[in-house]
Amino acid sequence: MFITFEGIDGCGKSTQIAIFEAMLKDKGISPVITLEPGGTMIGKAIRKILLDVENTQLTPLTELFLYEADRAQHVNEIIKPALEAGKWVICDRYYDATTVYQGLVLQGYEGLIEQLNIEACSHIAPDVTFLLDCPAEIGLSRIEERRRNHTETDRFDRKTLDFHTRIRYGYLALAGKHKERITIIDATLSRERVAIKIEEAMRPYL
Ligand code: TYD
Repeated sequence: MFITFEGIDGCGKSTQIAIFEAMLKDKGISPVITLEPGGTMIGKAIRKILLDVENTQLTPLTELFLYEADRAQHVNEIIKPALEAGKWVICDRYYDATTVYQGLVLQGYEGLIEQLNIEACSHIAPDVTFLLDCPAEIGLSRIEERRRNHTETDRFDRKTLDFHTRIRYGYLALAGKHKERITIIDATLSRERVAIKIEEAMRPYL
């Protein structure tokens, strides 16, 4: 079983993945928890380039190739072997993030993005994708809170409210196109309510 979590920055993916993992463990399932970018050693090096605030000169195409390079390595090294071994894999972001984030910046490159997504993922599609949906204001205020605790920021944190709003609507449009795979979860609810909704959606598979 391959499950991915998507949503704007600050939508609460990490929290929900941790709760979901605990729920699965209660049921005797030990999932592989992973993320993009940065799910492998090579991916961590790529992530460092992507997140570095000094790297203001990264072109949108360079970014696209780096995300896809991270994914190609990740699928080969982690996701594919785990699925072949019959494990559950839960991934924090996958190719939908590239479709939406890079698709927004690289308008007119939809065909290339789709082709690279397919090649990088070795044709492995998620069985279920949870889109944690909330207004960009909420996501950003959560990031702001995180920032106050950690002081450090990365390149992604610096994007504007307008950017995050457009990402949100990009995700919602994508979910509309893949209703069979993508389940939209209202991420403005309490973390307990969100967790219950995810568990309910997974009931047929448990
Ligand atoms: P991360 O710190 O993991 O953010 P979050 O915890 O909110 O997921 O950084 C991931 C950032 O990378 C996030 O802003 C989205 C972006 N991203 C892309 O633009 N394209 C991609 O293909 C992926 C996987 C992530």
